Amino acid sequence: MCGIVGYIGMQEACPILIKGLRRLEYRGYDSAGVSMINEKGELNVFKAKGKVDDLEAFLSDKDISGTIGIAHTRWATHGIPCRENAHPHFSSSGTLSLIHNGIIENYATLKERLIEKGFTFVSDTDTEVLVQLIEYYKLEYKSDLLSAVQRALAQVIGAYAIAVLDKNNPDEIIAARKASPLAIGLGEGEYFLASDATPLVEYTHKVIYLDDDEIAVINRNSGLQIITLQGQAVNHEVSEINLDLGAIEKGGYEHFMLKEIFEQPDCLVNCMRGRINPEGTIVRFSSVIDNAEQLLNARRYIIVACGTSWHAGLIGKTLIENFCRIPVEVAYASEFRYSNPVIGNGDVVIAISQSGETADTLAAIELARSRGAFVYGIVNSVGSSIARNTQTGSYIHVGPEIGVASTKAFTGQVTVLTMLALCIAKERNTITQAELEEALGELLAIPGKMAEVLSQNDAIASLSRTFTYAQNFIYLGRGYNYPVALEGALKLKEISYIHAEGYPAAEMKHGPIALVDAEMPVVVVATNKLLYDKVLSNIQEIKARQGKVIAIVVKGDDTISKLVDYVIELPETAEFLYPLLASVPLQLLAYHIAVCKGKNVDQPRNLAKSVTVE
Ligand code: F6R
Repeated sequence: MCGIVGYIGMQEACPILIKGLRRLEYRGYDSAGVSMINEKGELNVFKAKGKVDDLEAFLSDKDISGTIGIAHTRWATHGIPCRENAHPHFSSSGTLSLIHNGIIENYATLKERLIEKGFTFVSDTDTEVLVQLIEYYKLEYKSDLLSAVQRALAQVIGAYAIAVLDKNNPDEIIAARKASPLAIGLGEGEYFLASDATPLVEYTHKVIYLDDDEIAVINRNSGLQIITLQGQAVNHEVSEINLDLGAIEKGGYEHFMLKEIFEQPDCLVNCMRGRINPEGTIVRFSSVIDNAEQLLNARRYIIVACGTSWHAGLIGKTLIENFCRIPVEVAYASEFRYSNPVIGNGDVVIAISQSGETADTLAAIELARSRGAFVYGIVNSVGSSIARNTQTGSYIHVGPEIGVASTKAFTGQVTVLTMLALCIAKERNTITQAELEEALGELLAIPGKMAEVLSQNDAIASLSRTFTYAQNFIYLGRGYNYPVALEGALKLKEISYIHAEGYPAAEMKHGPIALVDAEMPVVVVATNKLLYDKVLSNIQEIKARQGKVIAIVVKGDDTISKLVDYVIELPETAEFLYPLLASVPLQLLAYHIAVCKGKNVDQPRNLAKSVTVE
């Protein structure tokens, strides 16, 4: 969702803000804007529809001077993408400018009240209501900006990370958060603000993450002060960010998504490091050791997540049930949060999230905790809200994921779930040491095998050209491979805008097979040892209806391979590890089809990387 950047210090703000917006452009890219206070004390706001490049072009002949400023890249919630709706928003008098990430749910009521008081609006956004409300309190109570922000936020229902500038106080930025992330970078005599740490790393490694209902007053002379909405001072720990600048740049690849697909073998090595010993005899998680009572004796596990992370959760269910013999449910976080789940003491909720900021997953965690469940987070983004709001958990350690379509985070999540299932199973004695060692040996070999799969990139690229003009796709899989089919379909939809559906292969005959004709490409993940003959029959049914089958098979397969139109081979591994290998060619297939279609792979239309609103 929207990205926020801010700067106050001795340097010119605008170049820092623009660079920050580029780092955050993966969060929102339908419009962007900046606001600075210049030496003359003028508060300027410049905005443009489109990408940060469009904004930069627009700025070329403007007065962009000033050592204090805020900036925003937008993902539309209220109002279409256009210059008027872009942030920052001015207050009516032009003395305040404000940026916002989140949703003000009661904006319509507040707007009505403000209109009655004579305020006028130039945009359709909920954000403009907030800046006008702050102005109203400032005028009404003849107060300073901080008190006006406190009064306004007390009226707001919803989620926000905001930053405000006041023309009358060119030495201060006020920022606040509730349910939308906000990080403050601490430099030497300068401060930075951002929705996540990526814009901060080139300036500082010292960061404070604001908590909900907190306000930061960042003053050029008196420094940083953090208070609650009610005005009580808060002492915050300073976190150290260990983010390598190279990890957030493309490093010679055409797109972040391709870079991230190719990083996967290294990511999985990082993910396993320190958890599995090199001999492959032990798998350990301190989170399991420290919380053995809750995790080993759980009545039930419930996995909550959204999108790709939900698909990883489906694989997690099969892993935990097979290895640990604990029942597992998997819920969409967005459904779970508004259900009335039968959940409480004795239940463990596993929340999975790449960004660690997904609003629905955060709300699901809150509900689960309020009912007494123990919550375990599987997160990529270090220090994120989900990481901080769960009782324990594991990072996946795959590094920043910038491409909007999730790739390396998915395989990282599946790897953590696999290790976690094996660790819990061993502690519960539901697997033997010999079984554990066999499984760990196979898992340790996965990065090497993944690299073999990646070496087929050119062949997959040329296969993709055949399907550039397909209107629909079906993806099929069974058992561990069913979520892989769902994930393959999601990847294709997201970046190529081709309609795609994933099904458990045997479900075809209950309806979807009616869709199959000579125009229908069907991708079948056919690596199952146990259900090989069943999957073979499913493929025969599609071939009998002239469907074009692309099969993902195990190297050496000579039955399915002969029957289908196109084959992608995977190295042999254990049944439960095929999702890690099979998802790679599906990522590449989606990537190359989208590239052939000329789509913006890293920033697909309508999507945002971090879904911080409902
Ligand atoms: C798909 C994708 C989304 C996310 C979903 C959850 O490629 O990226 O479906 O998986 O929005 O996001 P996180 O994992 O950040 O909670």
